[in-house]
Amino acid sequence: MIQKEGKMEKFKLLNDVEMPVVGFGTWQIEDGEVVINAVSDAIELGYTHIDTAAIYKNELGVGKGIKKGLEKTGLKREDLFITTKVWNDDQGYESTLKAFETSLKKLDLDYVDLYLIHWPLTKEFGEEQWKEKVSETWRAMEEIYLSGKTKAIGVCNFLVEHLEELFENCKIKPMVNQIELHPGHNQEETVKFSQKHNIIVQAWSPLGSGRVLENKLLNEISEKYNKSTAQICLKWLLQQNIVVLPKSINKNRIESNIQLFDFEIKKEDMEKITNMEPTGFSGCCPSTSKF
Ligand code: A2P
Repeated sequence: MIQKEGKMEKFKLLNDVEMPVVGFGTWQIEDGEVVINAVSDAIELGYTHIDTAAIYKNELGVGKGIKKGLEKTGLKREDLFITTKVWNDDQGYESTLKAFETSLKKLDLDYVDLYLIHWPLTKEFGEEQWKEKVSETWRAMEEIYLSGKTKAIGVCNFLVEHLEELFENCKIKPMVNQIELHPGHNQEETVKFSQKHNIIVQAWSPLGSGRVLENKLLNEISEKYNKSTAQICLKWLLQQNIVVLPKSINKNRIESNIQLFDFEIKKEDMEKITNMEPTGFSGCCPSTSKF
């Protein structure tokens, strides 16, 4: 599944599109100079995969950061893998088509590499209404994919029940499921189910938004390998064939979060991390959160 290509490795999606295994996460980075600089720094430091979303309200800045990064490095648009997502308020057939065009315009791009449904919406819409809504949204996603304006489509925060429902009505299977994952928040059932269906799992908040970085076990393992605790968290995910999307606005941390390809976590340490005590999570539950 992994292709070696210099330092950065790639996973192949169901439709053979290749996705770099480390992406730059932009959730909680404010629009304007901060995100412009963070994204262009990331590209300069070797990231070729950038993840944003309409609800992050920074697509304008991300687009400008991409341009700046391309200018600095001499890379071309097609060397990058760019993701954005349709927010809950825009779910539905027509509104998803419209939201996609709005995102494209803000990013100032002709196409994206991956377009995702951001949340499954269950509670807010009620059981039956959710099913109808997600199926309409997915119809629009399939249409956008077939138009060539996105190279791949997928979902975020879909648990097994949501994926099973989507499978009932889809013509094109989701290629990606982006979920909250970090040591102490394994989401094993969703990961296993997604991977069994050849859906690439991406981890949002792979450092638990910083929450897990003081964990004693992770700090001990970090010392043992002479790597930062953040690098241990990210590598633990990569070794499970999970794409990581770390966020940072600090240039040194942006740089170190991508230096993951010169070491391997041993099986016994992988298991220790997998079995460590729960560390909590954002509190955003795909089955109950009401956004
Ligand atoms: P900062 O942006 O100041 O670097 P996640 O990706 O799980 O959402 O975590 C992001 C949080 O972790 C941010 O608060 C970010 O702060 C911090 N962070 C990112 N990389 C590192 C790192 N290598 N070491 C310590 N903290 C980090």
